[in-house]
Amino acid sequence: MEKPVEGNGTVLDVRHLTKRFPVGGLFSSKKVHAVEDVSFRISRGQVVSLVGESGSGKSTTARLISRLIEPTSGEIFFKGRDVLRAEPRGASRQYRREVQMVFQDPFGSLNPVHTIGHHISRPLKIHRRAPNRRELQERVLELLNTVGLNPPEEFANKYPHQLSGGQRQRVAFARALAVDPELMLADEPVSMLDVSIRMGILNLMERLKEEHSLAYLYITHDIASARYIGDETIVMYAGHMVEGGDSEEIMHHPAHPYTKLLLSAVPNPHAGLVSRKVEDRGEVPSLIDPPPGCPFAARCPHVMDVCRQAMPEVRWVGENHWTRCYLYDGEPQQDAPAG
Ligand SMILES: Nc1ncnc2c1ncn2[C@@H]1O[C@H](COP(=O)(O)OP(=O)(O)OP(=O)(O)O)[C@@H](O)[C@H]1O
Ligand code: SF4
Ligand SMILES: [Mg+2]
Repeated sequence: MEKPVEGNGTVLDVRHLTKRFPVGGLFSSKKVHAVEDVSFRISRGQVVSLVGESGSGKSTTARLISRLIEPTSGEIFFKGRDVLRAEPRGASRQYRREVQMVFQDPFGSLNPVHTIGHHISRPLKIHRRAPNRRELQERVLELLNTVGLNPPEEFANKYPHQLSGGQRQRVAFARALAVDPELMLADEPVSMLDVSIRMGILNLMERLKEEHSLAYLYITHDIASARYIGDETIVMYAGHMVEGGDSEEIMHHPAHPYTKLLLSAVPNPHAGLVSRKVEDRGEVPSLIDPPPGCPFAARCPHVMDVCRQAMPEVRWVGENHWTRCYLYDGEPQQDAPAG
């Protein structure tokens, strides 16, 4: 396996990340195969979208990268550093600062008894980003202004329940931004918001990316928003990456039957940021000790005998576009696909 090179702009390089959760009690050997052999890269100033249905392993992938949970196997290189080896007993304070997570429910992550100003000043204090009280206050107001909460003095004194969902999510971004992160893991940051304000948050993410050279992993079940914000898109199904590459290329020329299914559920890929529910024959396979082969076999209209025998390898179907499906016979890829 090729060693990642530091200084080439790669912020995150995830290799063969796998997470199997033991289930069924102390004497059971059953495992939920939540994330299987996931590999991708994200560069500075790049957004990689991770898209898939509920239970496909998106949040588990983000939790592994943030090191809220530890992988069963695989490697995580952050700015060229093998973090699992370098920090085997848990993430360092620096890693926890540099990798920030923003969650789906902005209300759940804010304590109702504290003001917005308190929420934003807390990470600044913990990570010692302001030397004195005056600078702390200035920084809080500057961050509120950056995320579009104006006038900042007014918002600093408000409580979470006095804000709309979109405003609360802006606070979540301000709090993450407070500690100068390099990578943001945004797990369904707009899915609980009204359609009318989703675009505002996605545009805020885009602006923060430009102004702070951030790298983003944007997690969504909505392929239209994955395309809107993601330079690259990775499609996950039942814990596996099944297709990835340039977002536009994937939207215009989807290869994997599952990606085609996701796209067929989008009412208007040019305008809509809301996809209809994916309905198709068959069910998502059980993730508890799943059978070998392609995980989409039970739902796939093109299924062949070989599909049930082994997981297909990564095949290139375009310059920056790959898939894992036996319908394609492009060059197999030996190394981890880049994000
Ligand atoms: N701690 C855990 N123990 C056992 N199984 C788990 C655990 N955490 C997640 N899982 C399982 O792993 C699978 C992937 O879950 P994950 O939350 O990553 O999916 P997701 O793609 O984020 O879905 P959603 O869109 O609903 O958020 C699911 O089957 C889930 O039930
Ligand atoms: S590998 Fe086979 S079952 Fe899986 S998506 Fe391709 S054709 Fe369908
Ligand atoms: Mg999730």
